[in-house]
Amino acid sequence: MNPFTFGTVATGESFYDRHKECDHIVKTLAGGNNMVLYAPRRFGKTSLVVKAIQLLEEQGFICIYFDFMPVFSVESFVRLYTKAVASKQRNLQRFAETFNSIAKNIRPVIRFTPDGNPELSLDITKKQIDETDISQLLDIPEALAGKKKRVLIFFDEFQEVEKLNKINFEGLLRSKIQHQKHVNYIFFGSKTHIMQAMFNDKKRPFYHAATQMTINYLPKKETIHFLQNNFARKEIKLDLEIAEYIIKAAANIPHYIQQLASEIWSNVSHHADISHEIVDECILQVVAMKSDYFMELFENQSTSKKQLLIALCTGGENIFSESYKITHRLPSSATLQRAAKGLTNDGVIDKIDSEYFITDPFFKLFLKRTML
Ligand SMILES: Nc1ncnc2c1ncn2[C@@H]1O[C@H](COP(=O)(O)OP(=O)(O)OP(=O)(O)O)[C@@H](O)[C@H]1O
Ligand SMILES: [Mg+2]
Repeated sequence: MNPFTFGTVATGESFYDRHKECDHIVKTLAGGNNMVLYAPRRFGKTSLVVKAIQLLEEQGFICIYFDFMPVFSVESFVRLYTKAVASKQRNLQRFAETFNSIAKNIRPVIRFTPDGNPELSLDITKKQIDETDISQLLDIPEALAGKKKRVLIFFDEFQEVEKLNKINFEGLLRSKIQHQKHVNYIFFGSKTHIMQAMFNDKKRPFYHAATQMTINYLPKKETIHFLQNNFARKEIKLDLEIAEYIIKAAANIPHYIQQLASEIWSNVSHHADISHEIVDECILQVVAMKSDYFMELFENQSTSKKQLLIALCTGGENIFSESYKITHRLPSSATLQRAAKGLTNDGVIDKIDSEYFITDPFFKLFLKRTML
């Protein structure tokens, strides 16, 4: 079986390193603090947090993982959040009773499937869910915790709460987290700049509401070990230099390292040598597999965004400087700022320190091959 996995949470043997980061999350949450975790796309936030959840559950915490990505309306938040909270309750009947004692317009209904398993659905008695309903819903984890237990809530893709701001969701949640004694929260998400604006802007409810942490690239040494150990399963001795070549081609981003390694694994037989040529072929195969999507992604951009993407293929330092604009024949500062903001919001580009980059190294390669 291919030992390399990507596009899903890395668990078990697919997960390596991040010991210190995991320990930091466990200790901060167990110690009764809230935290926010930033990192660009595909760096391994969800995998790290899922690992921390395992350890915290072993310590007896009730851990509720909630992904904001599928939330598209206040009602969808109510349904999905209730489901996430209920999924961690052993006794659904008792959960429904606690729920009913707090939320007045939202009723959990328990039905039994033909094989006798309880199933939860929601009956929303009101046409329009308002702040009071959300406030009651957000009180439920504290009520479930009671005096003895502690509940931890893991909010993934938290930047998406902006979709709920027509009901002052941020303000409500902030006031809850301040008062809840038995519930702590970790907020994390891939749109780093939106998250940073939420937690570092004095005018926003979440200003300094949580301990901040970031995760960086996985250490090269550990990645090389991971690649070598896994290729050894096919009795392949992966040269150090080739391992470094793979890491570089994947821009050292965990997801793309595993994607490329997975492609190489499928293309080499037992005892084979992995050469630069094989790696290059596999890179092109990955690009080819995604080329329809890449082409559509590029075509859907405005002219200024296209110009910026092409410029970023050669470097992303000081992109607003006069010399960068002249070299790459870019539009005026205001237009360029808008283009950079739009592409960042869509996750197509990102920034680490002062350097902008195209988040998917294979998209960058596609652009280099087709547009330059
Ligand atoms: N610690 C790790 N060990 C091994 N592989 C990892 C690790 N962390 C991440 N990966 C690789 O990166 C991929 C993406 O990981 P994950 O989904 O956790 O990242 P993310 O930062 O949450 O991504 P997104 O920005 O899309 O939400 C995984 O499928 C896996 O291939
Ligand atoms: Mg994630």
